[in-house]
Amino acid sequence: MKPMGTIPEEFRGERGQLLVGSRPAAELADEAGGTPLFVYDAAMVEARIARFRRAFAGMSVHYAVKANAYSPLLKWIASRVDGLDVASAGEMALALDAGMSADAISFAGPGKRDEELAAAIAAGVTLNLESAGEAERALAIADGQGRRPRLAIRVNPDFEIRGSGMRMGGGAKPFGIDAHQVPALVRRLIEGGADWRGFHIFAGSQALSAEALIEAQQSTLALAARLAEEAGERPPLVNLGGGFGIPYFAGERPLDVETIGAALKASIRQRPPILRETAFAIELGRWLVGEAGVYLTRIVDRKTSHGKTFLVTDGGMHHQLAASGNFGQVVRRNYPVAIATRFDEATEEEVSIVGCLCTPLDRLADDVMLVRAEPGDLVAVFLAGAYGLSASPQAFLGHPAAREMLVNGGD
Ligand SMILES: Cc1ncc(COP(=O)(O)O)c(C=O)c1O
Repeated sequence: MKPMGTIPEEFRGERGQLLVGSRPAAELADEAGGTPLFVYDAAMVEARIARFRRAFAGMSVHYAVKANAYSPLLKWIASRVDGLDVASAGEMALALDAGMSADAISFAGPGKRDEELAAAIAAGVTLNLESAGEAERALAIADGQGRRPRLAIRVNPDFEIRGSGMRMGGGAKPFGIDAHQVPALVRRLIEGGADWRGFHIFAGSQALSAEALIEAQQSTLALAARLAEEAGERPPLVNLGGGFGIPYFAGERPLDVETIGAALKASIRQRPPILRETAFAIELGRWLVGEAGVYLTRIVDRKTSHGKTFLVTDGGMHHQLAASGNFGQVVRRNYPVAIATRFDEATEEEVSIVGCLCTPLDRLADDVMLVRAEPGDLVAVFLAGAYGLSASPQAFLGHPAAREMLVNGGD
């Protein structure tokens, strides 16, 4: 038997049925027209935003659209956060459609094409510049449009968040501009007529250590102040990055954001004078939405091979790559799963849950103890709200697309 992660405490069962947003999973699947289905609980996202606001009073929160771009969810989030961060012209269009004002959208990401730069400048979206070459192209395009572009600099910091799942800073990186090149570029942007918006410093993702995040935020503040001093300019905004993780696997503990909030408040209070007028933002994806999503897939077959029981489902890694262990994991570990139509019943047998793709990579759970389940039962894969559909190879093998649904989202 292998362990699995912990089901978020917001999920409970009623008469053997998993409830998502107070509604039985099977009812949601029927209403959606079938499985595979992602269900997102807006109330859980709302609770996260409220918790952030309590812990980080006065700090802006931006949502990283890459985590989950499902339009109804994005619209719902857009009206509750202070900004949206996008990574392509496609995400930018979704962010604008979601009703976010252009001056609260920032566009980061390497390899922005001229058309993408032009669309962002025309819309009034802030470009987080990833190279000196991109800066020159943006200035030239803005000149051609007769517009004053909103330009910020994404800095490649000389540090990373200790222990983060994905490191985005420290050493040679395709992201951001090396810190030593930044002061001269700030002056170049201002001389070139840009509306310089400040710095974007993103040092990593999926960190579960409050101490490591506090250390990274303090380094980020110090770096922003040093670069501003060297440039001789006050940044209007410093985006301090994010990196708040969620516990996916057995033994992982939730992040203590209140401790981070208290430490950041103290650091901001003591910030260097050059940052006195600066506004600060934190940019979060998975911490806001990851735990609020459940992937529901139906058991199509139950079979035994060499004494091992497999539950074969109609979903899989083409929708939920991360749970299969093929999205940034070195050693595959189990996400929390349950039989949604026999929830809260005593575990009886050890099974492996696989998807319907004809590849050994398509595993949703390995050797886990569950209640006995049959074809027709629903499997719930938890922690599917971030980097589920947005980070999975849906076209692979031509199976049907996943459905998506927002519950508790009426307002
Ligand atoms: C620039 C940037 N912003 C935000 C994020 C979102 O990270 P997370 O969803 O872990 O909060 C990422 C993730 O890689 C990123 O690269």
